[in-house]
Amino acid sequence: MPVREAAPAKVNLFLHVLGRRAEDGYHRLDSLAVFAAAADTLEAAPAAPDGAGLRLALDGPEAAALAGEDPERNLALRAARALAREAGIAAPAAALRLTKALPVASGIGGGSADAAAALRALDRLWGLGWARTPRLAAVAARLGADVPACLAARPVRMGGIGEVLAPAPPLPARLGLVLANPRLPLATPAVFAARTGAFSAPAVLPETGWREAAALARDLAALRNDLEPAAIALCPPVAEVLAALRALPGCLLARMSGSGATCFALMPDAAAAAAAVARLPSAWWRWGGGLYAAAG
Ligand code: C5P
Repeated sequence: MPVREAAPAKVNLFLHVLGRRAEDGYHRLDSLAVFAAAADTLEAAPAAPDGAGLRLALDGPEAAALAGEDPERNLALRAARALAREAGIAAPAAALRLTKALPVASGIGGGSADAAAALRALDRLWGLGWARTPRLAAVAARLGADVPACLAARPVRMGGIGEVLAPAPPLPARLGLVLANPRLPLATPAVFAARTGAFSAPAVLPETGWREAAALARDLAALRNDLEPAAIALCPPVAEVLAALRALPGCLLARMSGSGATCFALMPDAAAAAAAVARLPSAWWRWGGGLYAAAG
């Protein structure tokens, strides 16, 4: 029986760059990440006897952007190989099918979410029982700074270079997100390299969290995405996306996610977010709804 895992979009409600590690140039971050119900889907099936080994097929509305890519370089397949190595599986076999609904290289963790979903799916398919254990989180951390947060797929405070996770303060029960991307890819290393200016201090968040979306938006307004100016310098349409999101009825806050170019609008609830999407240019990738709720 194939197993199926969602790879939901990661949205950084704020992202402060605290400094840079001398040893590898990675940036130390403080971020509050949530996951939207917009998601890629990763399906893993036992490989047919004639097709031994690990295989990856791509489909879905956003798969065309990966058409020229060597599947061996895809992070989902690299995750599968890393997991097999860690589990001591000498001849791993699985047929993976990745249905891309999220734009690639867009600051919402798409590739990292796909890798995390591959780890969750193969943990089940291969019967490892490593879900929610440090062992699986360690494999995730070696694949990329964002992969552990995507493996958690629930609201988290990200520290370290993104791989140190702490629970997020309680979020409002009703919360909506609009996501918009101008269909221009941004390479994460280029955005970090273009960042200028002083480093930020960590954010101070209320431990009791927020009961209302408006209260969350008020606190977030005092914080930033420190990569936003660099992303706008490299990709000026990001500023247009932010302006269009700010003009949506009900928008409480608009900000870029991750290293861009996807931006989000925080909305009072999922219905308001879904209703507002049609007002954005149809040439953009756009989505509106609520937060991802993991099964189980
Ligand atoms: O870990 P990942 O492969 O996702 O990171 C991609 C690139 O983004 C890194 O090579 C680095 O240039 C940059 N990065 C960074 N600091 C982070 C995360 C990523 O400088 N905390």
